[in-house]
Amino acid sequence: MPRISSRDDAVFDPIERASRDEIAALQRQRLAWSLQHAYDNVPHYHAAFDAAGVRPEDFRDLADLAKFPFTTKATFRDTYPYGLLAVPPSRVARLHASSGTTGKPTVVAYTQADLDVWADLVARSIHAAGARPGMKLHNAYGYGLFTGGLGLHAGAERLGCTVIPISGGMTERQVHMIADLSPEIIAVTPSYMLAILDEFARQGRDPRGSSLRFGLFGAEPWTNAMRQEIEASFDIDAVDIYGLSEVMGPGVAQECVETKDGLHIWEDQFYPEVIDPDTGAVLAEGERGELVFTSLTKQAMPVIRYRTRDLTRLLPGTARPGFRRMEKVTGRSDDMVILRGVNVFPTQIEELLLTHPWCGGHFQLELTREGRLDHMIVHAESRPEHWDGAGLREESRVVVHEIKNTIGISADVVVEPPGTLERSLGKVKRVIDRRPREPAQT
Ligand code: DLL
Repeated sequence: MPRISSRDDAVFDPIERASRDEIAALQRQRLAWSLQHAYDNVPHYHAAFDAAGVRPEDFRDLADLAKFPFTTKATFRDTYPYGLLAVPPSRVARLHASSGTTGKPTVVAYTQADLDVWADLVARSIHAAGARPGMKLHNAYGYGLFTGGLGLHAGAERLGCTVIPISGGMTERQVHMIADLSPEIIAVTPSYMLAILDEFARQGRDPRGSSLRFGLFGAEPWTNAMRQEIEASFDIDAVDIYGLSEVMGPGVAQECVETKDGLHIWEDQFYPEVIDPDTGAVLAEGERGELVFTSLTKQAMPVIRYRTRDLTRLLPGTARPGFRRMEKVTGRSDDMVILRGVNVFPTQIEELLLTHPWCGGHFQLELTREGRLDHMIVHAESRPEHWDGAGLREESRVVVHEIKNTIGISADVVVEPPGTLERSLGKVKRVIDRRPREPAQT
């Protein structure tokens, strides 16, 4: 079996060895092309640049990008479905869509060249996660309009892996297939990995004895505490994979297995910025804010300064020194719960819960309103071997105190019996908001 450290296969693509200066030079050249391409071929960008008083020629250096207007989810909605296309429809090889929580989904398009770049980036990502040609990859991301399934699929094939395209769901069969087909790699959302873990136990199988060695987990926020839980339960290396449909899909950024210290952004294809979400000002490296991406070579749907709503910070590269890292995403600005003036992310609760041996990582946050005050109930499931039949009263009181002391809010904690919280088959829904809707503004 090839090892990660062997010199000749340390990277998938020679560009991964490029220096910071080489990457920056490539970005300057590609950004100039991408801005011109968007301006010339997408009426929305033409109008938006004109309204901001900027032209593609005004871009001379990387810092000039800040003069250009942002693109948001609303831009996609307003131009639904094909308004952001920069090529004739006949050149589009594939469409994907992200399920909007409200209203219209977001449709994204790829030319064949875009699909090739995407497959290369996912191959690079899977390789950085520890996979090597000849290994088998169990792909439990959903197939269909979601970019996870087909994105991982094409990348694994490009790397030379055997793909097992099982998709999400039918958890019992997932475990049978892992046992029978002996994949070394699994690609799945971290929350669904926990459901697979439960199923190993139900079938009386030892997850640490399975063939799995590496896992690529993403599509939703997860913490280092969850990484430890998954790594210890399955005896695997677990790394983070990030991406979003508007920018491409999975494989925009990838954590390297040898360092596990945040995700290297594939900067030869995407230019990242972190901005202050309130003012839009570009923040310095190391400062936390909203992540923004500009595509550098995308043909069908270039994105210029797309506001992801994901919160993180940029850090210098390590395992791939030419590429900056992004810290694990703590949450989306839309997931943030503001409770009596205090900002809370589900990941903060996850981190805290996972310090307790009775909790295996299944939890949900319920928001209610009593009178004028918002209230949060943390529903956390007990592991079967810790369940006392009566709600682990003492343990839940401890968590109430910890939430008060570390996050600064008063929340109720209800420890639920094993197996009772709904399992996600893909992206987990952590927040159940039962607060009455504000009356619509007229
Ligand atoms: O979730 C693409 C993907 C598929 C990524 C499989 C990784 C693995 P969308 O459905 O468009 O695309 O959702 C994108 O999901 O803006 C983040 O809020 C969140 N997200 C994706 N990856 C991560 C991650 C796919 N590793 C949105 N950590 C993004 C935290 C993530 N959040």
